[in-house]
Parts: sequence; structure tokens; C-alpha cells
Amino acid sequence: MRLAVTAAAVTIAAVMLALFCTAADGLGSAATLAISSGTGTVCGVLADAAPRSIQCARGTRPAFSIPPSVSFDSVSGGRDFLCGLKTGGDALFCWDASNASSTDLPQKRVYKGPPALTNLTVGEDQIAAVDRNGTAIQWWRGDGSFPPSGVNGSYQSLTSGRGFSCAIHANNTVQCWGRRGTEIQRDFLNMSMASIVAGDSHVCGLNTTGFLLCRGNNSFGQSDAPSGPAFEFSSLALGESQSCAVRQSNGTVVCWGGDGGGSGSYSPVNTTAFVFVVAGDNLTCGLTTSNFSVVCWGTNRSNPAVTTLQLPRILPGICTADQGSCKCNTFPDSASLCSGSGVICNPCPVPSPPPPPPAPPSPPAPPSRKTSKGWLVFAIVGSVGTFAGVCTIVYWLWRRVCRNKKVYNSVQPTISAAGNGGANAAATSGAGAGASTLSGPFISPSGSRSRIFRRQGSRVMRRQRSGPSSFKDRAEEFTFAELDAATKSFSWETKIGAGSFGTVYKGKLSDGREVAIKRSESGPRTKKFQEKESAFQSELAFLSRLHHKHLVGLVGYCEEEEERLLVYEYMKNGALYDHLHSKESTSTVLNSWKMRIKVLLDAARGIEYLHNYAVPPIIHRDIKSSNILLDGNCVARVSDFGLSLMEPESDDGHHSARAAGTVGYMDPEYYGLHHLTVKSDVYGLGVVMLEVLTGKRAIFKDGEDGEPTSVVDYAVPSIVAGAVARVLDSRVSPPGAQEAEAVELVAYTAVHCVSLEGKERPFMADVVANLESALALCEDSHGSISSASISLASVD
Ligand SMILES: *[C@@H]1O[C@H](CO)[C@@H](O)[C@H](O)[C@H]1NC(C)=O
Ligand SMILES: *[C@@H]1O[C@H](CO)[C@@H](O)[C@H](O)[C@H]1NC(C)=O
Ligand SMILES: *[C@@H]1O[C@H](CO)[C@@H](O)[C@H](O)[C@H]1NC(C)=O
Ligand SMILES: *[C@@H]1O[C@H](CO)[C@@H](O)[C@H](O)[C@H]1NC(C)=O
Ligand SMILES: *[C@@H]1O[C@H](CO)[C@@H](O)[C@H](O)[C@H]1NC(C)=O
Ligand SMILES: *[C@@H]1O[C@H](CO)[C@@H](O)[C@H](O)[C@H]1NC(C)=O
Ligand SMILES: *[C@@H]1O[C@H](CO)[C@@H](O)[C@H](O)[C@H]1NC(C)=O
Ligand SMILES: *[C@@H]1O[C@H](CO)[C@@H](O)[C@H](O)[C@H]1NC(C)=O
Ligand SMILES: *[C@@H]1O[C@H](CO)[C@@H](O)[C@H](O)[C@H]1NC(C)=O
Ligand SMILES: *[C@@H]1O[C@H](CO)[C@@H](O)[C@H](O)[C@H]1NC(C)=O
Ligand SMILES: *[C@@H]1O[C@H](CO)[C@@H](O)[C@H](O)[C@H]1NC(C)=O
Ligand SMILES: *[C@@H]1O[C@H](CO)[C@@H](O)[C@H](O)[C@H]1NC(C)=O
Repeated sequence: MRLAVTAAAVTIAAVMLALFCTAADGLGSAATLAISSGTGTVCGVLADAAPRSIQCARGTRPAFSIPPSVSFDSVSGGRDFLCGLKTGGDALFCWDASNASSTDLPQKRVYKGPPALTNLTVGEDQIAAVDRNGTAIQWWRGDGSFPPSGVNGSYQSLTSGRGFSCAIHANNTVQCWGRRGTEIQRDFLNMSMASIVAGDSHVCGLNTTGFLLCRGNNSFGQSDAPSGPAFEFSSLALGESQSCAVRQSNGTVVCWGGDGGGSGSYSPVNTTAFVFVVAGDNLTCGLTTSNFSVVCWGTNRSNPAVTTLQLPRILPGICTADQGSCKCNTFPDSASLCSGSGVICNPCPVPSPPPPPPAPPSPPAPPSRKTSKGWLVFAIVGSVGTFAGVCTIVYWLWRRVCRNKKVYNSVQPTISAAGNGGANAAATSGAGAGASTLSGPFISPSGSRSRIFRRQGSRVMRRQRSGPSSFKDRAEEFTFAELDAATKSFSWETKIGAGSFGTVYKGKLSDGREVAIKRSESGPRTKKFQEKESAFQSELAFLSRLHHKHLVGLVGYCEEEEERLLVYEYMKNGALYDHLHSKESTSTVLNSWKMRIKVLLDAARGIEYLHNYAVPPIIHRDIKSSNILLDGNCVARVSDFGLSLMEPESDDGHHSARAAGTVGYMDPEYYGLHHLTVKSDVYGLGVVMLEVLTGKRAIFKDGEDGEPTSVVDYAVPSIVAGAVARVLDSRVSPPGAQEAEAVELVAYTAVHCVSLEGKERPFMADVVANLESALALCEDSHGSISSASISLASVD
């Protein structure tokens, strides 16, 4: 059996050789197997499985699955984490593999196209990928040394190492990017290459006449490639100090470099035939031709410590949906290996005789050093060469990522403290869960009842006084009498809610305009009055200079003796909170996923404006569903700036204001450490996103006498496990195919937003990008999303 398969492979190889073909362009592709070297975690995409999920193993220990159980095309690994590209290329999941004793790898979804991706390779702290059309290479993250807007053009063999990525241009020259790219590119000057694979700090590949060549670091002899006949090798794997290749003739492996003495090449496993090999720092693994099991070895030449992992059968190549795209036949039995959905293409022979020698040299273009703002996504780590040219890794990001359990548990004390009305004396009410007594279009009360009503007004005041204020030029000043008339003397039937200071009434001005009027509860109890005074000043100051279609606009104000009133545009459709949680009527506004996502996008744009376009930037500090209002056209707008702070206040980039905000929405980091950054608003919006998805309040009781649970604790575990459907609001009909993808994206974005640590959370611009992408999916539009791709996590 084994012989038969091997024989088949040999036959195929022979046929290919006969055609003067080569697997050259297979050298830097394929990645159904990856290594996270730090903990020796080896993960692969399962053969004969539907969906084609991923399993991992370490050493001789049993294999374990990693969620979500969706279909993956490929997987790639770095030192402390692994990433998988979902079938279709529009989503990327990464797992933290840094805990050698854990089989529960914290997960993070990090990409959502379009464009769909392919050829994913990750280096030290950059992730590189090609769009499916093969027209551009794009990077995320990185240390700022990668082209921030990507590189257009037709490339092959994209591969990433520690601090560089390289690819082969259509003219067969090697082009590299990144801080160490110049060096590597120079080493390949004047060479005409067909394929390349990067290791830690060296690169090997076949030139266009099929000879193996290595360049770069050679301190362990890892660049001393064996000389042999043309097209001798079909797969290459480069680690840190060692390189290995698979012989095309009989599938055996030959390695060079490594430690433990000796030079030249050697065979750590000389009787086993491999389909391909991959490497990660000091570990190299191959997929056996006989039964697709995984065999690994180390870098010690005299004792390579060969181990067979307990993984089930791994796919011998990437399943491609479209058989027509296989230019050169398919792998034997591949339809069944791909369990019916797709086939595995054979690597293509080089179609023509070797091209003419390289054209006259041109000095390598130095890679762009432009600093990318570090706003995008992932972090990465040490790369490793792989056969696949896929390597990956985010590393230190991952070390910190997803301490999910800790995160959400830590929310709990907050809740119960507030629930007892104790711990934080400022908490004025219970769990804020459903004790709504007021409702109406302006500001829903339930949140405000649980407000922690301490604010840091003095800074705002200082600021306010420090410069000439021009708000009075822009906002109308009303007399108390006018407003009194507009609200029938603030009668209870015009009362529509309560805000961060005072009560909100609906009014009709003498000219017929409908407005919402917020009145500070008077009463000269001095301390409270001062707080209110500063809330008033702060909101007036902010609003009068903010004009954005997703922020509730200020019409005017009234300041007469002890009366402090703010007059806003009236938001006819009330608060998001009421649409989600009001018992009486089922909201007709929010009865589709598309509309729900649109509302979130509107709100995110409003907050993004505060963070990125207001000068100076503003932190809202009290993002919650009762502060997101819907106007007559159901466009969502952010309101209630009574707690907002301008940014930045301190040199180290965060405020250390005392806790303020609303229980259930409050950034745990801010609550605990009193560090206030824009990421506090991101947390609040994350909670709102979960509310919108699940239809549950930020803190809710399960059943009559259930314990109060936060929506974060409730929803995040299911989302992370890939079972979003389990927690979706059942009042909305289950999402259709496109919508499901959109809802999933929103869910993963929300999970990132509620990360315990602010630096793990995305920036609001990233959230906006993801929501735009989700909305586009719902719209089923063919239009592509304008902004480049998306991102989630961010690293400060
Ligand atoms: C690693 O995982 C084990 C088992 O899941 C857990 O007990 C341990 O605390 C984890 N270590 C770290 C550093 O997270
Ligand atoms: C990729 O190709 C499709 C159709 O071939 C086209 O609609 C799309 O705009 C292309 N995308 C990019 C990023 O070039
Ligand atoms: C690549 O092309 C796209 C559109 O075709 C363009 O927006 C982008 O600026 C180009 N990038 C570079 C680096 O030239
Ligand atoms: C992407 O992968 C395909 C198939 O594995 C390969 O032919 C192509 O050269 C790769 N493209 C790049 C830019 O790496
Ligand atoms: C490929 O490398 C071999 C060995 O170094 C060399 O003889 C041959 O000329 C090279 N081919 C090209 C196209 O440069
Ligand atoms: C070469 O590789 C060795 C082993 O990984 C490493 O210690 C050394 O720093 C590398 N040198 C360069 C210039 O990258
Ligand atoms: C394989 O390696 C062993 C020990 O390293 C050696 O004894 C044996 O002759 C080798 N076999 C072949 C076919 O090279
Ligand atoms: C495989 O082929 C190489 C040379 O191409 C030869 O040295 C080696 O002995 C062969 N191994 C086996 C197991 O046939
Ligand atoms: C694959 O074959 C090897 C022997 O070549 C055997 O030890 C191993 O158990 C087999 N693995 C599977 C999954 O069948
Ligand atoms: C690889 O290196 C790590 C530490 O750097 C070590 O713990 C591990 O045993 C090594 N693995 C092999 C196969 O040599
Ligand atoms: C190959 O293309 C690259 C990128 O367009 C260019 O910089 C380089 O000069 C070209 N080299 C040759 C030899 O044509
Ligand atoms: C590349 O080739 C040109 C002429 O073809 C030569 O002048 C130049 O020195 C070569 N550069 C290298 C690094 O070999």
C-alpha cells in the first residue's frame, strides 16, 4: 500500500521531469501544516473532514482540535501563535499557542475581506498576503518598515522572514520589503529566480534553470545548499539554523546547517518519503507520502529526535474550489481528501524553456521606510521558513491576547459591587438591568440609574476657561420662559428620559421646531450643583463645536440663575436601548440584521469622529445603548456628552479620571486602573454590539431569580467557539448566508472590542471598517469596500 502510493508519487514526479517540469512554483506555496515553534505546536488542516477544521499536536502527546469548526484552506505558524485562512479567503483566525501545557488556544479572528486573501505569510511582526486576483501584496502591522498601502503588481512566491518579506516579480527578480529586505534583495541581485522560501534570516529557492541557491545568514551553514542536478527538489523548509528539502525523485529529505557538528548535507530521516516539509525555528516537519501522517525532527545532526505526531491525516495540499484553476492536473484522490468540496492542484511544470538571462541590473529599490501608523491588525512574530512560504506569526500580541476568562470574570466584581450598591459608593442603583421606569425617545433611564455619578469636572472646567469660548456664537440662547412654554412647564407628560445630568423633556418651540430639552435638576445642594454645572459646561462646550451626522446636534442652551438647560435636536425614534429592550412593543425598526448593523455603524462613525476628527479628540466615556438615539430616518446618533473628556490630558496618553460611566459598559481597565483612553469608548461600543446581537441587556438576569450576568460573559464564549448562532436575538429571523457572515464579523469585532486590555482592542476606525464590511455583505452589493482591508486588534 505504502509502496504503491510512493510508486505513484514517483511516477508522477518522473512524468513531470520528463516534461521538463518542475514543482518549482510549488516550492513556496501550500500550507496545510504549520509549526508554532516556541511550544513545538504543530497544526494541520484535516483530510477527509467536513468541515476541514484544524487539529494540533505537540511531541508525542495526543492531538486536539481548535475551534472554530469551520473549513480552512491553509494554516501558518510563528513562534507563539498560528493563523488559519478560512476557506474562501475572507477570514483569518489566529490562535495563541504560547502555553505549552494548554490545549485551549485562545482565538482571535483577524481579517474579513474583501478582497479575499491567499498566499498568507507572516514574519516577525508583519502579516503579508496576496489578494485573490494576484494583483497586489498587502501588509498589516509590521514595524512600520513595510509599504503601508501595499504593492501593486504581479508577484509569485511571497514569503516572509524575521523583519522582511520577499516575492518574485514577473521579471524573475527577487523583490524584498521590510527593514531587512534591502540586504536580502541585494543578495539576490542579478539572479533569475523561479521560487523562494524564507527562513528566519536566510532565503533559498530555485533559479529559473532549476538550481537550488541560498542567500542570507549562514552562521550555521544553513545557506550551504547542496549542489545537485536541476530541479532536484520539490519542497523546501527553512528554519532558523537549518534548511531541509524534499527530493523530487523519491521524496526523501535532505537537510543542511543545524547544530551538533558536521557540515554538508545529511538525512535525518532517510527512509521516509514526504509530500512536503515545513519548518519553524528549530523544528522541521514533513507530511509522509504513505499515509499523510506528520513526522518531525530537530536541528541536532547527530540526534535529530525524530517523532511521529499523533495527528490524523493532514491534507497533502490546499483544496481549491475551482478545478478549472488547476492548470496541471490534480492530486490523486484529491476530491475525496477534500471531502467533496474542492480538489488539490498539482504544482505546475515550468511551461517554457528557461527565460533569457536577466536583463541588466538595476539597483534594488530600497524598501519603503514609511511609517505605517501601526493601526492595523495583528502582531506577529518570528517567522519561520516553510515550504508553504507561509509562516506566521504574531507573537507578543498573542502573548497578551485573549485572557478571556480572566477578562470576563473580572467584570463580575464590578457588577456585583454595583448590585450591592456598595463598593462603589457612587453607584446609585442596582444592576441596571431592567429597572427601567421611564422610557421615551430621548434618553432611556435605566442606564442612567446605574450611573456612577462621579466625574472629573475640574479638568474640563479648566480647559473650558483656558481658552476663549466661542460656543455662544454657534448655539442659540433661549430664555427660561421660552423653554418653559415649550414643555408645558416641564410637565410630566413631556418628560422623555434622563441624561447624565438632569431630566429630558420633549418640547415644541414657538416656531414649531421639535426639540429635546435637558434640564439640570435644580437645587443648590452645592456639591451636586457643581457637578451638574460642570457637566453642563462640558456638554455645552463639546456639542457646540461638534457637527456630525451621527452625533445629536445641539440647538441651544439656557443659563439663567440656577437653571441650566440644553436644547437638542429631537430624535424621533428614541433610544436604541428601548428598541432592543422595551417589553411592550417589538421594535419594527430593528427587525433585520442589516438594520441592526447599520445602527451600529452609524454609532461607530459618530464615535470615530469624536476620537479622530474632533480637535482636540474627545473621549465620550459613556457609550451605551441608551445614549445611541435614532432620528426620524432611523439614522443613529450618539448623545449625552456630559461625561466627555477632551484628549489627551496627560503625557502618558491616558487620563486618570475617577471612574465614571455606566455599569455593564465600563471599561474594566478604566474601572480598575482609572486609565481612560479612547479604548474605553471602544469597550462600551463592544458591549452595545453584543446587546444588538443578542437582544440582552448589558447586565441581565437569566430567569426571575437568576444571577445577574453580563452580556459579555454570556455571548463571548459562544462567539469564540464559532457558535454565534447560539446567542443571536431570536426576535430577528436567522441570518441568511451573506448575512450570517456579516453577523459573524460583527460578533468577532465585538469580542475584540471587549478585550480586557485596551491595547488589545481595535481603534474605532477599525471597528468602522469592519462594520462597513459587514453592512456591505448584508446589502449583497457587488460593490467592493473601498478601504483596504480591515483589521482588528491593534497594538499600541
Ligand atoms: C497554561 O495552561 C494551563 C492549563 O490550561 C493553565 O493551568 C495555566 O495557567 C496556563 N499558563 C499560563 C501562563 O497561562
Ligand atoms: C478581482 O477580480 C474581480 C473580477 O475578476 C473584480 O471584480 C475585482 O474588482 C478584482 N479585485 C481586485 C482587488 O482587483
Ligand atoms: C495600487 O492600486 C490601487 C488601485 O488600483 C491604488 O489605489 C493604490 O494606491 C495602488 N498602490 C500602490 C502602492 O501603488
Ligand atoms: C500563491 O500561491 C499560488 C499557488 O500556490 C502560487 O502559484 C503563487 O505563486 C503564489 N503567489 C504569490 C504571490 O506568492
Ligand atoms: C542557476 O544557478 C546555476 C548554478 O549556480 C547557474 O549555473 C545558472 O546559470 C543559473 N541560472 C540562471 C538562469 O541564472
Ligand atoms: C544568523 O543566525 C543566527 C542563528 O539564528 C543568529 O544568532 C544571528 O543573529 C543571525 N545573524 C544575522 C545577521 O541575522
Ligand atoms: C539511513 O541512515 C542510517 C543511519 O543514519 C544509515 O545506517 C543508513 O544506511 C541510511 N540509509 C540510506 C538508504 O541512506
Ligand atoms: C533517494 O534518492 C537519492 C538521490 O536522488 C539517493 O541518494 C537516496 O538513496 C534515495 N533514497 C531512497 C530511500 O531511495
Ligand atoms: C502512517 O504510517 C506509519 C508507518 O509508516 C505508521 O507508524 C503510522 O501509524 C501511520 N499513521 C496513520 C495515521 O495511519
Ligand atoms: C527548540 O528550542 C526550544 C527552546 O528554544 C527547546 O525547548 C526545544 O526542545 C527545541 N526543540 C528541538 C526539537 O530541538
Ligand atoms: C524587475 O521589476 C522590478 C519591479 O518592477 C524592477 O524594479 C526591476 O528593475 C526589474 N528588473 C529587471 C531586471 O527588469
Ligand atoms: C549585475 O550585473 C551587472 C551587469 O549585468 C554588473 O555590472 C553588476 O556588477 C552585477 N551585480 C552583481 C551584484 O553581480
